[in-house]
Amino acid sequence: MRLVFLGAPGVGKGTQADRTAELFKIAKISTGDLLRGAVRNQTKLGLEAKGYMDQGKLVPDSVVIGLVQEKLNEAGCGNGFVLDGFPRTTPQADELGRVLGGKQLPLDRVVNFEVSREAIIKRLSGRRSCPKCQATYHIDFAPPKKDGVCDRCGEALVQRSDDRREAIETRLKVYEEQTAPLIRYYGEKQLLSRLDASGSVDAVFAKLTKVLEPYRAT
Ligand code: AP5
Repeated sequence: MRLVFLGAPGVGKGTQADRTAELFKIAKISTGDLLRGAVRNQTKLGLEAKGYMDQGKLVPDSVVIGLVQEKLNEAGCGNGFVLDGFPRTTPQADELGRVLGGKQLPLDRVVNFEVSREAIIKRLSGRRSCPKCQATYHIDFAPPKKDGVCDRCGEALVQRSDDRREAIETRLKVYEEQTAPLIRYYGEKQLLSRLDASGSVDAVFAKLTKVLEPYRAT
């Protein structure tokens, strides 16, 4: 099963990609996670990406495309994958099509997650993440058992630097200008499913699995 999850920042793609990867036993490839890992490890790529990310801007296509290509070549993707947060521009989508076409492994489905702007802002401003194991929480909708502490590894939770109000505004603007056109792009390729991503995490996952079930065997 080869999937792309599209949608505005904070719509819940990462949360649902984790569950999807676990249920269907496929790899999750999140460009945001890969880039944050590079920033944490202070690699050359991470140092280059950090400035763009903190401001809520997109990291240059050439950097991100290279990262994804590397991951797609790894053996762990043999059973399929869900791409979370990639592609985000038309050149990225063209390149993905070219790479997968070359491997004769076309995409099965692109799911566009949709919720109101108000809900997105609530989800983003309440998000907390674990800097050690990358688990994600929400102060109201998915709180940890102990306030401010990761359930999985006990590390103190932090707020992402791009979840500040100004960066959120920039991310939403960048999304409208550069990523939203991909809805039409994949619609024209007959690959798109639109998903109402309002409601609880469980309710969204129930709707999502119905959309994905027909592609399970491929
Ligand atoms: P990235 O990490 O991909 O950020 P994003 O797309 O902005 O998405 P988010 O991670 O913010 O949100 P999400 O939709 O995954 O929501 P989540 O599940 O966490 O990218 C970060 C940066 O990296 C970019 O700005 C850019 O600089 C760079 N980058 C990444 N990819 C790139 C690319 N391809 N090209 C160029 N640059 C790139 O949920 C959010 C919160 O809501 C959580 O707290 C969660 O607990 C909560 N929540 C989730 N679902 C629900 C629900 N149903 N109800 C209530 N709360 C919920």
